[in-house]
Amino acid sequence: MTERVEITLTINGRDYIVRVEPRKTLADVIRDDCGQTGTHIGCEHGVCGACTVILDNEAVRSCLMFAIQAQGKRIRTVEGLADGDQLHPLQASFIAHHGLQCGFCTPGFLMLAVNALETNPEITDDEILEVLSSNLCRCTGYQNIIKAV
Ligand code: FES
Ligand code: FES
Repeated sequence: MTERVEITLTINGRDYIVRVEPRKTLADVIRDDCGQTGTHIGCEHGVCGACTVILDNEAVRSCLMFAIQAQGKRIRTVEGLADGDQLHPLQASFIAHHGLQCGFCTPGFLMLAVNALETNPEITDDEILEVLSSNLCRCTGYQNIIKAV
């Protein structure tokens, strides 16, 4: 077994000090070692987008990077979107527009769209469509996700 190293991940404003093998992906460490299971893992090779988190204002696929690469960065996951009982407006919009069915893809879509809207509040519908096209959903047929965003 590879030797473990101690790393600190800052997730939704809280520091998690964990000992992990250097080969472990950010997605796995967020879920297994930090207990934040809202970030989902689908394909594990960068195709589906279910594992999308925001890393310092950039939406990234957390299955495609090592956790040690995320040290010193601000990591945001779906758990950090709501403010207490108050859902993030985009979460509320997904509910209002039936933008989810099984919900497996939803955390990834939320983080992807939140990042796009925060980094470019003037984003056009076409640009949003382009952004959302990077993630996969097996249930909804996409139309209601697009409407929600
Ligand atoms: Fe990361 Fe599919 S699990 S892109
Ligand atoms: Fe089921 Fe998108 S809601 S995969």
